[in-house]
Amino acid sequence: MTAMIFTRVLAAGPEATSTAARILQDGGLVAFPTETVYGLGADATNAAAVARLYAAKGRPRFNPLIAHVPDAAAACGLGRFDGAARTLASAFWPGPLTLVVPKAEGCPVSDLATAGLDTLALRVPDHPVAVAILAACGRPVVAPSANRSGHVSPTTAAHVVGDLAGRIDLVVDGGATPVGVESTIVACLGGTPRLLRPGGVPKEALEAALGGLVADPPAPTTDPGPGLVPDAGPIAPGMLSSHYAPRAFLRLRAAAVSPGEALLAFGPTLPPGAEGALAVLNLSERGDLAEAAARLFAHLRALDASGASVIAVAPIPRHGLGAAIADRLARAAAPRG
Ligand code: TXA
Ligand code: MG
Repeated sequence: MTAMIFTRVLAAGPEATSTAARILQDGGLVAFPTETVYGLGADATNAAAVARLYAAKGRPRFNPLIAHVPDAAAACGLGRFDGAARTLASAFWPGPLTLVVPKAEGCPVSDLATAGLDTLALRVPDHPVAVAILAACGRPVVAPSANRSGHVSPTTAAHVVGDLAGRIDLVVDGGATPVGVESTIVACLGGTPRLLRPGGVPKEALEAALGGLVADPPAPTTDPGPGLVPDAGPIAPGMLSSHYAPRAFLRLRAAAVSPGEALLAFGPTLPPGAEGALAVLNLSERGDLAEAAARLFAHLRALDASGASVIAVAPIPRHGLGAAIADRLARAAAPRG
């Protein structure tokens, strides 16, 4: 149990930026928006701050974290980039892509932040509030999604406050996050780059930039069920299968809705039985996957709050951002453990 602390909430702006930077430099915890989801930041070079971050999230174990920096130049000082990593960084940074690369010699990121690995996950976010805070802080900032461990990732400041008030120092409110699912994680460790987590940059776009194939996630440790994106296994130990669990049970690829269920719809046509649903929210009436990703976590939270014990989820295409959406839904539907 961590002691309760007072959590300030500031609207994004110059005062919030300098307050956030000072708190981070002093070893405190600040939640801020990125283009994907809200992150909970701590000074990556300060092991005590990183330990506080794990405690605030209630993480069951020390998973490696992503170090966030304001630009590619800062990233290049922390890790060793091969040709593929350089290509991906110049094509997608700033943006929703995390690169796992070998740690550079003398890299100041604490071993606690990387869980003792000799590799480092690096990201340059594409959000003016995040970039301003990172630049003002002047140190790499680790930032997992700003939710309690096992909860749905936050896409608004209100989600963060609901999960973490009393446990962190500051929330910087910069409105809803535009992408809505976390960054795509790619390991560039020599040889073929490997996708570790589908996310805001579709795999098709990675392969187009590289002019070659990206390897799929490592073999699953447990079978996630037919057609589901598997858990990434030991190489990305943070990817616990039930990472995004709402309270309600999720019924995926539902062809019809049963009375009393909530419905998470997609596209212009609602499935049979929708009129008897307890609550209906549509990820995208026009069937747009980017809009669906941006709405995913907020809609899951809202349907969970409807009190339905089952959320029926309409079928969603798997291409482009659909792969990240399918991954997060599979995790939300996974048995709790
Ligand atoms: O969009 C995002 O990436 C968000 C925002 C806040 O930037 N952050 C985020 O962080 O999703 P988190 O901690 O929820 O997820 C980090 C993932 C975990 O699955 C972890 O296992 C993996 O990155 N990871 C970190 N370092 C790694 C490494 N050296 N090798 C392999 N996987 C690593
Ligand atoms: Mg997370």
